[in-house]
Amino acid sequence: MSGFEAFDYRNGELFVEEVPLQQIAEKFGTPCYVYSQSVLTNAYRQFDAAFEKRDHLICYAVKANSNISILNLLAQLGSGFDIVSGGELQRVIKAGGDAQKIIFSGVGKNANEMRMALNLNILCFNVESEIELMTLNHVAKSMGKVAPVSLRVNPDVDAKTHPYISTGLKENKFGIATDEAIRIYQSAQLYPHIRFTGIDCHIGSQLTLLEPFIEATEKMLQLLQSLKNQNINIEHLDLGGGLGIRYSDEKPPSIEEYVTTLCTLTQNMKQRLVIEPGRSLVGNSGILLTRIEYLKQTAARNFAIVDAAMNDLIRPSLYDAYHDILPVKKNAVAAKNYEIVGPVCETGDFLGRDRKLSIINGDLLAIMSTGAYGMSMSSNYNTRSRAAEILVSGDQMHLIRQRETFDQMIAGEQIIAD
Ligand code: LLP
Repeated sequence: MSGFEAFDYRNGELFVEEVPLQQIAEKFGTPCYVYSQSVLTNAYRQFDAAFEKRDHLICYAVKANSNISILNLLAQLGSGFDIVSGGELQRVIKAGGDAQKIIFSGVGKNANEMRMALNLNILCFNVESEIELMTLNHVAKSMGKVAPVSLRVNPDVDAKTHPYISTGLKENKFGIATDEAIRIYQSAQLYPHIRFTGIDCHIGSQLTLLEPFIEATEKMLQLLQSLKNQNINIEHLDLGGGLGIRYSDEKPPSIEEYVTTLCTLTQNMKQRLVIEPGRSLVGNSGILLTRIEYLKQTAARNFAIVDAAMNDLIRPSLYDAYHDILPVKKNAVAAKNYEIVGPVCETGDFLGRDRKLSIINGDLLAIMSTGAYGMSMSSNYNTRSRAAEILVSGDQMHLIRQRETFDQMIAGEQIIAD
């Protein structure tokens, strides 16, 4: 099932699986994120099946959507996790994830986060600099432990994606240059509390072409070979995440095509393959459901002011990202071009621009493909509470996150005493 099939019209009304979105809005209010369990499950199964008998581990990139119900579902399917903070680590453990399937990525892990991860015996730290390696060695020593490490190599490959989410170029802050990485693996004796178990790379996100993945994999294989020539043996190759999804008319490779390509390129390699997909697992499983508060016409534009805003979904404002916007009930009024905007006091607060829609005041809209980097990037800007999240499975609706209350929003704040 592709992402869009679980969200389809029946008699002019948009459903998620067996539930009309209208019913969700009535029951839980708007704005809210709505996820389809079957889309998520199917995406995971497609990844898993495409590896066939190959020794592999799928480490879901938690940052894409970190709701503990989503993590729990993936854990039940056998997924591992790619985390980037102590907070994400705690989420995964809370959700029932297996520490032995956790990979810790990120350029700025601090000593506390390292300690927490070492205590839990995670699978591997993806280390991004020599100074980080020294810190980890030191922390592990203080705990009488040995930290499993993979160096994140920056393969200097152009991912041909948005510059903000391109990570594999040598001018990016991520990873270690190949030569440098070889030198560090050779100097393993300097780090008695580190055990080098892997190598990894991650070149960017929302990639719609296979070529950059192929280029990066080939470079990683060369690196693996030169390490092998020096009797440095590595147990796994982690090729990161980054597979794109269809937001409008992109044609990214299918999950199967992507995995098969990686497996074929690495078929002579005996090491375990690890990947860290985020968006391609959850992106098309979710929508943001919002209600039109006011249709406002000015001399220059028609605005649909909705109750979701850039604090709920920042991708359009931040990356000029496109998300399809569909009416929940088709109606017969004349179509007009609208700017779909939120109540936040910024001109940059838009969810869609110049969209042709037949809508009236009070209509519901579905902002599509927002399962990844939607809720997880939300904020309280303008003191707007975070949206509710609902997971749908067949005809069942589960509230997996309550709408935030005002008291929850200001819980940590205090007025200073005189
Ligand atoms: N592994 C690492 C080390 C990463 O940095 C990322 C994403 C992933 C895996 C997962 O990548 P994915 O499969 O989801 O492409 N906020 C942006 C996307 C930022 C991606 C950051 N890193 C957006 O909304 O498009």
